[in-house]
Amino acid sequence: MRPKVRKVVIPAAGLGTRFLPATKSMPKEMLCVVDKPIIQYAVEEARASGIEHVIIVTGRSKSSMEDHFDVSYELEATLRERGKLDLVREARKVSDLASVSYVRQKEPLGLGHAVLAARDLVGNEPFAVMLPDDLIDAAGVPALRQMIDVFESTGDPVIALLKVAMEEISAYGVIRGDRDAKDARVHVLKELVEKPKREDAPSDLAIIGRYILTPDIFEDLVATTRDKSGEIQLTNGLRALVSRRRLLGYEFEGTRYDAGQKLGFLKATVDLALKRDDLGPALRAHIQSLGLR
Ligand code: UTP
Repeated sequence: MRPKVRKVVIPAAGLGTRFLPATKSMPKEMLCVVDKPIIQYAVEEARASGIEHVIIVTGRSKSSMEDHFDVSYELEATLRERGKLDLVREARKVSDLASVSYVRQKEPLGLGHAVLAARDLVGNEPFAVMLPDDLIDAAGVPALRQMIDVFESTGDPVIALLKVAMEEISAYGVIRGDRDAKDARVHVLKELVEKPKREDAPSDLAIIGRYILTPDIFEDLVATTRDKSGEIQLTNGLRALVSRRRLLGYEFEGTRYDAGQKLGFLKATVDLALKRDDLGPALRAHIQSLGLR
C-alpha cells in the first residue's frame, strides 16, 4: 500500500514586498481576506484534504502566526466574562484546526530553500506543499485532495496546473507535457521552465502553489544551484526530478486567486464576501449602487 500524505509544508517566510507597507511588521500570510488570514484558508483546505500535520516555514515576525493557531487564554477569558460564548467557540476552532509545527528559514533564499528547511520535520514520507497566497475556492472536493487522489492512485509526485492568459505567462513556472489518455486533467510532464518569455513558453499551463512531493525532492533541492537573484527555486529542483522519474501535472477544479498581489487579493475579498450570507446581499447592493459599467 502507498504511504498516506499526512503532512503539509506551508512556506510563509517570504518578504512579501508587493504588499509593503502592510508587510513591514507582519507576514503577508496574515493579511485577511474578509475575516481570516490567508494562511488559515490554506490550513483549512489541508485539513479538509485529510492532512494531519501542518509545518509552517516562518521568517521574520513569526509570532503572529504562532499566536493565531494557538489557544488565546486571555481573549477567551475576556469573551467568557462578557458572555460571548459563540465567539469563544470561533476562536477555539482555529486552535483546534490542526497540529502545527514551525521551522525557521533563516534567510529568504527562495521557495526551494524554504521547502528544504522543513526536511527534518517531513522525514522520509510523501508530503504536500501549499503556497497560501494561491487561495483556491473549490466548490466540491478541495484542490489539494484532488491532487492527493492522483498521487494515491499513481504513486507519482503531482503539481497543480492552471491555464493562464499568454500575456501573463512569464510570471509563472510553465510546463510542457502530454495529456493523459484516461484523465484529461492529468499531464505527464516533460519539461518545466521558470518564468519564460512569452515567445519561449512551452504551453499556457502554469504551475500553481499546490504540490504533492516525495522525499527524494530534498536531494534535488540540495543539488540545485542558486538562480540570478541568489535564490533556490522549487521549480529548478523539480526540473532535476522530472529528468529522473515520472512527474504529473494536474489541472485542478476550483477558482484560484493570486492573493499575493493586490488585484488578486481584492478579487478574492470581493468574491468570497459576495458568497457569504451575512455580507453578500449588502455588498452586492453596494456594488450595484456604484453604477459601474
Ligand atoms: P513569493 O514568490 O510570493 O515571494 O513567495 P514573497 O517574498 O512572499 O512576496 P513578494 O514577491 O516579495 O511580494 C511564494 C511563497 O513562498 C514563500 C512566501 O512566504 C510565499 O508563501 N517564500 C518565498 C518563503 O517561504 N521563503 C522564501 O525565501 C521565498
